[in-house]
Amino acid sequence: MKFDDVRKIVEGVPYLGIDEGWELYHFVLNHRPERCLELGHAHGVSSLYIAAGLDEIGGGHLDTVDLIGSANRDPNVETLLDQAGLQSYVSVHREKNSYTWFLKKQIERQTRNGACTPCYDFCFIDGPKNWTIDGLAFFLVDKLMRERGWILFDDYKWTHGKHPEREQTDGITIRSLSDEEINEPHIEAIFRLLVMQHPAYGNFEVQDDWWAWAQKTAGAGQELKKTRMAYHLRDDG
Ligand SMILES: C[S@@+](CC[C@H](N)C(=O)[O-])C[C@H]1O[C@@H](n2cnc3c(N)ncnc32)[C@H](O)[C@@H]1O
Repeated sequence: MKFDDVRKIVEGVPYLGIDEGWELYHFVLNHRPERCLELGHAHGVSSLYIAAGLDEIGGGHLDTVDLIGSANRDPNVETLLDQAGLQSYVSVHREKNSYTWFLKKQIERQTRNGACTPCYDFCFIDGPKNWTIDGLAFFLVDKLMRERGWILFDDYKWTHGKHPEREQTDGITIRSLSDEEINEPHIEAIFRLLVMQHPAYGNFEVQDDWWAWAQKTAGAGQELKKTRMAYHLRDDG
């Protein structure tokens, strides 16, 4: 499915913006990941861009995970996938408490004789932006990531302090957090302290201070590149 066709279907639906949609779609076209994982789909806008890219390259699959409540969103991910005719590319999973439990089950499914066989080439992490949950999610996802696979974090600079409307997330009452936890971007801390220090990751790139990429490369290319999203730079855009 072409980029402009999927863009029209998701127009006005939260949350992913058009620049990010462009990046996600073209990432799939350029890197041709066979198996993708998405942690946090909300209405399914990002899921649709990934699925449209898979359709365009003629194959691949996306596992997308959210909380049970995402089924009640209007529209929900299934509705958008139906509209686009992309259902066959996506398995929708929902957990009562957290995607970390889905990851536990996936590690179990991939484990034989005490070793976990990696199965994903791409993982997009766009959930609670919380040190405890997403820090753990990184280490769990790592067990499932194939060599040369990419992890992408959304919300690099997101802080609780800049979103006072959000009283609670994942059973955590925001006002019960320390000032440091409220004011520091958790995803940036996870990326800087866990991902960039992990010996298996390299080719780090932060786009617009919002998206952070890392590749499982046994550490090649440890420099951190700072770049911009591309859609708004297009001549024909
Ligand atoms: C910003 S939205 C995702 C947006 C979506 N990726 C897009 O671009 O359109 C974040 C989602 O993460 C989900 N979420 C938050 N914490 C979660 C958790 N621990 N486990 C599973 N999903 C979670 C929320 O329910 C919400 O739908």
